[in-house]
Amino acid sequence: MMHILAIETSCDETGVSILKDGRMILANLLSTQAATHAPFGGIVPELASRKHMEMVQPMVMQAIHQSGIKISEIDAIAVTYAPGLVGALVVGVSFGKALAYALNRPLIGIHHLEGHIQSIFLENPGLAYPFIALVVSGGHTNLYHVEKAGVYHSLGRSIDDAAGEALDKAGKMLNLGYPGGPVIDRLAKGEAPDQYRFPRAFLSKTSYDFSFSGLKTSLRTFLEKKTEGEVKSELSRIASAFQEAIVDVLAEKTLRAAGAFNVQTVVIVGGVAANSRLRARMSEEGERKGIEVLIPSPGFCTDNAAMIAMAAVGHFEKKDFASLDLNPAGSLALEEAVA
Ligand code: KG4
Ligand code: ZN
Repeated sequence: MMHILAIETSCDETGVSILKDGRMILANLLSTQAATHAPFGGIVPELASRKHMEMVQPMVMQAIHQSGIKISEIDAIAVTYAPGLVGALVVGVSFGKALAYALNRPLIGIHHLEGHIQSIFLENPGLAYPFIALVVSGGHTNLYHVEKAGVYHSLGRSIDDAAGEALDKAGKMLNLGYPGGPVIDRLAKGEAPDQYRFPRAFLSKTSYDFSFSGLKTSLRTFLEKKTEGEVKSELSRIASAFQEAIVDVLAEKTLRAAGAFNVQTVVIVGGVAANSRLRARMSEEGERKGIEVLIPSPGFCTDNAAMIAMAAVGHFEKKDFASLDLNPAGSLALEEAVA
């Protein structure tokens, strides 16, 4: 039996999870700070650190209690060390180090994006490599060719805003609160996406990079020409059209990559993978092209610690441990982290 305890504090959610034998989630606790940051219309890093500080210790205790195992039965401590808000990462990394030292167990440093990619194995334990992985979140839009366990080839990334960031900024412009992504998803449901048209940036025919800042600007220009009343009455149509512009580009590039690399499976992970329109479109188009599309349940798409525990399994097996001088990194490419 092997138990990994994982801690995630890279952004605005504190997560603690205990995973048994790389398969069974014994505990998966999440504390969201959304209400703390909402009045500011975005994440306030200082507040994020303080909230993690307040939550991490009681959550670790609660996870151990809930799992039914003794603290001495933990075999390794995994912690997200990059990328993210440095002050937030410091909290989880410091706590993870202290716990690893006190229990005399190995420490495993996990790159947040490897966590997102590995989240797919929580519900698809038999998934075979290779596959294409699209990581779409508030901070990232990255496309990878995942050749085999631990080997991630970067194909492209956003050259400006991440997809989730674009949705959240649109949400702000539309007065939907923060984060706007889930609200746009809800508003757009059942609304035809073609009542307005916003630009799609494909960059070039062969590029796997993304760009969403032009789309954001086009929404701003569009809104400037409308009265408040018009925007209010058109809200769900605008949301649906804006969301569609993002989904179109994500779907086209991801499925094109699968064809180009002759890969049968694509996985979509990260907070934006919770988007119901993206899920539906990817599944439909995948089916049409004979490509298997796998997406975690929404709760495993957004930040969580179970995915960090899952990512740690491969490192544990290879005895790829971090030393107690592990340092958080605010920005670090996945390929550099696992190289
Ligand atoms: O992965 P995540 O929890 O945190 C980061 O690592 O960034 O992703 C958060 C992002 C936010 O931008 C949020 O608006 C977006 O995911 N998001 C959604 C949905 N749920 C979360 N976007 C669209 N539709 C959703 N249902
Ligand atoms: Zn994330």
